[in-house]
Amino acid sequence: MEKTLISDALVRNAPAPPDSSVAHKPIIVRLENIFKIYGSGETEVRALNNVNLTIEQGEYCAIMGPSGSGKSTAMNIMGCLDRPSSGHYYLDDVDVAQMDDSQLAHIRNKKLGFVFQQFHLLPQLTALENVILPMIYADIKADERKERAVEALKRVGLERRLNNKPNQLSGGQQQRVAIARAIVNRPVLLLADEPTGALDSRTTQEVLEIFSELNLSGITVVMVTHEPDVARKTQRIVWFRDGQVVDSHLTPDDIGQMAVS
Ligand SMILES: Nc1ncnc2c1ncn2[C@@H]1O[C@H](COP(=O)(O)OP(=O)(O)OP(=O)(O)O)[C@@H](O)[C@H]1O
Ligand SMILES: [Mg+2]
Repeated sequence: MEKTLISDALVRNAPAPPDSSVAHKPIIVRLENIFKIYGSGETEVRALNNVNLTIEQGEYCAIMGPSGSGKSTAMNIMGCLDRPSSGHYYLDDVDVAQMDDSQLAHIRNKKLGFVFQQFHLLPQLTALENVILPMIYADIKADERKERAVEALKRVGLERRLNNKPNQLSGGQQQRVAIARAIVNRPVLLLADEPTGALDSRTTQEVLEIFSELNLSGITVVMVTHEPDVARKTQRIVWFRDGQVVDSHLTPDDIGQMAVS
């Protein structure tokens, strides 16, 4: 009898269950009124001109738009590689817009993975050592580092290339090492700026399959691309023009045969 009363009281005090019709996933990226201005006067360039954008946990987004429209500038801000001139950037609910360099470096290491078109691996280090590097900065214990690096390289299908240096790997393999390096600290957000831009079409497919698998495992992925075929593999396309988001929820069907200038 007493048990029933206690459990009744617990039920009465429990928070109301979320209404599934309005429930949203946590927001990982919230850009609010972001401006990035280079130069001044006659030479002023508004690389970002009042950008507002939110990306929820678990999304797989492509960013598209003409050359010079602000895609890389937006990615560099999302990746804490650069700061906006004004506005707020909430990454995983923390406003990082005006943090100093060492705070941004800390956030990058803990929360973000970045993949670039040109891989940016250290040439004198093996695949394994390249992937271990971010864990040293993140203070992961030495005996755990190798285990986690091997696991990440297995995830991208490179368990047989651990001791190869970048110049002993193909372009696609180097990009897979870069992806392993980007995920090894278990980021909340994986950003990729034209990750297939330097790859042939077969290798592009391999890399895209890895991004899809990572996204299915729960990682939020944002990728800049010029290629409609690449964007079609994502769930949502954000379109930039002249430093602004002109459409934030295009679907792969919407872009159809759209040409990107
Ligand atoms: N460091 C800088 N100094 C001055 N202007 C810059 C700087 N970086 C970018 N810009 C300008 O800001 C605008 C947006 O550049 P951004 O690199 O973001 O374009 P993008 O959309 O990534 O283009 P692309 O598709 O060619 O990579 C461009 O007009 C560019 O010239
Ligand atoms: Mg760019």
